[in-house]
Amino acid sequence: MKIVKQTSVLKEILRPHRRQSRAIGFVPTMGCLHEGHLSLVRRAQRDNDIVVVSIFVNPLQFGPREDLKTYPRPLKNDIRLLRGLCDILFVPSAASFYPRDFSTSVEVRALSERWCGQSRPGHFKGVATVVAKLLGIVGPDRAYFGQKDAQQVAVIQRMCRDLDFPVEIKACPTVRERDGLAMSSRNLYLNPSQRRDAVVLFQALKSGERLAASGQRDATRIIQTLKDFISRTRSAKIDYVAIVDEKTFEPVKTIVRSALLILAVFIGKTRLIDNTVLKTRNP
Ligand code: PAJ
Repeated sequence: MKIVKQTSVLKEILRPHRRQSRAIGFVPTMGCLHEGHLSLVRRAQRDNDIVVVSIFVNPLQFGPREDLKTYPRPLKNDIRLLRGLCDILFVPSAASFYPRDFSTSVEVRALSERWCGQSRPGHFKGVATVVAKLLGIVGPDRAYFGQKDAQQVAVIQRMCRDLDFPVEIKACPTVRERDGLAMSSRNLYLNPSQRRDAVVLFQALKSGERLAASGQRDATRIIQTLKDFISRTRSAKIDYVAIVDEKTFEPVKTIVRSALLILAVFIGKTRLIDNTVLKTRNP
């Protein structure tokens, strides 16, 4: 595995691969890698000839009161986890990635304004901008994202469609802990009792799945049941619980065939998100 810090060096390394039509797979991350990230890298390895992983804690996607400074950066361990799984690890510095006169941003309107976008203003603009730049640098045939961040995948898919980026965006299944908690670098912030409470997100999703499968199609009813359920956990504070169209993220009133159940819940000060597809029985 080659470790590359400079954009110009990475482009130079990739040029001959592209000339020889080798398929390039790309997995962008912010590091502090866990099985969720590694599942994307393995998938990229299966589908492509060359795999590039990036680790970059992107300042543009953090709000002023968010955890940019404290975001875990265990680079040595990340490098160890990636050995044998990827060909090139790209770890740019913030100063070189965003020079002082960096002036461009990418905004996917509407889709970026709801849910996580509403709770974290500017977040998806930061994500779209960094991903656009990374795709420009790497020029992959395929790029891999986790369904755990469902709205992020939707924003990136829309950006690539709207701007005709020549890349296939692959959404990959959420990897979970034994008790169902979706793996996340931010789970490290939870103390043992919060960690136990955090399973409430997964339990709420399962309960939503059961309600839909048993024929409940009224989104408001399901949402209220889940909010009542989550509120019984004392350390949990709901940011949002919503049932939305899988592509537009517009709220759905009646579930026809399927819809996406999305939720964001604070456990103590840590904001966790998760989602699942609801499939309903046709009446
Ligand atoms: P990060 O949170 O490091 O996640 C990198 C990728 O791993 C994302 O596509 C995310 O959805 C995926 N991922 C995280 N947890 C997962 C899990 N439990 N199962 C499956 N996939 C999981 O998301 C970002 O970084 C950034 O916003 C980024 C896209 C890199 C742009 O800065």
